[in-house]
Amino acid sequence: MNIKTNIKNAPIHFPLLLLLSTFSIIFFPALITHSDENNTYYLDDLNLSIVKQGWGEHPKKNLSCVGNPIKINGTTYQRGVGTHANATFYILLDGSASKFEAILGIDDETEGNGSAFIRFYGDNKLLHTSQTLTGNKPPEKVSINLEGISNFIISIIDAYDGISFDHVDLADAVFTMAHGKPELTTRPKEKPYILTPSPAPSPRINSPRVIAVRPGSPFLFRIPCTGERPIQFHLEGLPEGLTVNSEGIITGTIKNRTPDTYPIQITATNNHGKDQNTLKIVVSETLALTPPMGWNHWYIHYDKITADIIKQSADLMITSGMADVGYQYVNIDDCWANAKEHHDPMRVGPERNENGDILPNKHFPNMKDLTDYIHSKGLRAGIYSSPGPQTCAGFTGSYQHEEQDAKKFAEWGFDFLKYDWCSYSKILSPKKIENLKKPYQQMGDILKKLDRDIVFNLCQYGMGAVWKWGKEVGGNSWRTAGDLGYELLQYHDVARRNASHWEYTGPGAWNDPDYLLIGYIVDPTTMGEPKPCPLTPSEQYSYMSLWCLMASPLFFSGDMTRLDEFTLNILCNPEVIEINQDPMGIQGHPIIINKEQNYEIWIKPLSDRSTAIGIFNLDEIEQNIAVQWNEIGLSENQKVRDLWRQTDLGTHNKSFTTSIPRRGVALLKLTPI
Ligand code: GAL
Repeated sequence: MNIKTNIKNAPIHFPLLLLLSTFSIIFFPALITHSDENNTYYLDDLNLSIVKQGWGEHPKKNLSCVGNPIKINGTTYQRGVGTHANATFYILLDGSASKFEAILGIDDETEGNGSAFIRFYGDNKLLHTSQTLTGNKPPEKVSINLEGISNFIISIIDAYDGISFDHVDLADAVFTMAHGKPELTTRPKEKPYILTPSPAPSPRINSPRVIAVRPGSPFLFRIPCTGERPIQFHLEGLPEGLTVNSEGIITGTIKNRTPDTYPIQITATNNHGKDQNTLKIVVSETLALTPPMGWNHWYIHYDKITADIIKQSADLMITSGMADVGYQYVNIDDCWANAKEHHDPMRVGPERNENGDILPNKHFPNMKDLTDYIHSKGLRAGIYSSPGPQTCAGFTGSYQHEEQDAKKFAEWGFDFLKYDWCSYSKILSPKKIENLKKPYQQMGDILKKLDRDIVFNLCQYGMGAVWKWGKEVGGNSWRTAGDLGYELLQYHDVARRNASHWEYTGPGAWNDPDYLLIGYIVDPTTMGEPKPCPLTPSEQYSYMSLWCLMASPLFFSGDMTRLDEFTLNILCNPEVIEINQDPMGIQGHPIIINKEQNYEIWIKPLSDRSTAIGIFNLDEIEQNIAVQWNEIGLSENQKVRDLWRQTDLGTHNKSFTTSIPRRGVALLKLTPI
């Protein structure tokens, strides 16, 4: 493909050329050099397949993002790039460009919908911010001076209102270059950087600090505590029926069956020191008083999961230190039952036995043995099913065997059920709210009657505004959207949507924006080899900060066998996790959105009267960002603590300013003095 259009290649008009050159030579000698050397390169001629966007595969050449001719406010353009928020174009210019020109708008195909804006950066400086482009609005024509710029970035931003209909066109987008040519490149690499200090050798008792058990149910809890082992645990106030072993694992059944709260004083001691804290055991019908934390196999093992991998993951949850900061559930996702057809013959077999009991496939030879193993480590076990006849991956579902399956899961020893809509649309249309509720209400009622506590996770991708009724049908958490794996790069937008339902969250009832896809994961769009998370290190800090501010269930879904230091530092900062596990259970949400500087401030009030705030720099460049206390509803002097670094930053009486790397975060705890 010829991506160069210069004067020499243009159609030749001899008399005019003669006249022009004579004129130029005589009157403007410099013009010859200029026209000879200034080449134009269209953005649409660059390798657009490098660019990832929020919807659809890649930006399109000379077409809108859905493949129509580019049309903005009634005018059709022959050339240009049709893209979709959010997307970023990283372009190498080698300092040899003079300008970039384009006509920016939302494509007419959205029929007036959509809104986005575009920020242009050059060598770590903001060059221009477009107006907010909306459907049916006249386009904005830009001409951006690129003299001396080597790295040019075009960032398409969803105007903070979600990416729906954000069909952004850059019509007639063209570079003028003195020499060389522009080149689209992948986003610059960022070196992992570790903010969190390693845990001290002396004990620290970590969250969760409130844990529920239903009257008469078996109890199991491993005290999350960092510090060099062995650690001696001394507990005061343990209700009759419970005992603690030398590893700090509390088991038994509380004798008293009346709802009550038991504040247990825990002292953890080792050679380096001791820590004391209170753990509240609450006997109540409501489980999951703080967001559940653990690991789920889906995004790393998919349909290759085996009981051995699950056991190994339980081992690693202990040895990696994850359990010491509160990770507790080891959860099997889809593909543990039998399928009618599967490339792995060990996963093919009868759905049920002659009694109608659901059958695990040959990779799960003994479920009871598996949960016993997990429990022996003080951890809890999770399982997955669907109310439909088949799960999403085509394995046996619970349709018409709901009670029998729930009893089986309890008998096997499971403590958590993810219940995934999948093929239930074959049974009832998801268009009616009562149909959406029905299977979840049914399973919710069944679980309540079991003599084992099973935390109930609804997975139906947010249909019918599940956050409004998930709790009422017995759910402890509910996915608010589709699979995050398909839109991982849009994690911030996913978080924003999830946070818009913040008022429905509280102890025992959590909005679930899906798992923590960091470390090594398999991209569900390619199903290739496990690869490191595509987010930059700063984005991973932001991602974890968002999940903690949102009081989201914290399930790591990457490879437990390849937990590097950086990933563990993201997953295992107990002060960051404490924000997530705060017993008041308020979901954080954004309260300041600043378009000029492209940042957001999220707040989450905490039970000790302090406030967690996340300042998210959404820009492609590092920025100094100031928070005024009065803008976020605070007034007094505030003690500021940087939670990622676990460092106090002094007392500030009106505001606080900090520098935040591109796409990074400052996660702070503000305590009034
Ligand atoms: C999807 C669900 C995923 C995973 C998968 C299993 O519907 O959202 O989280 O469980 O099914 O097939």
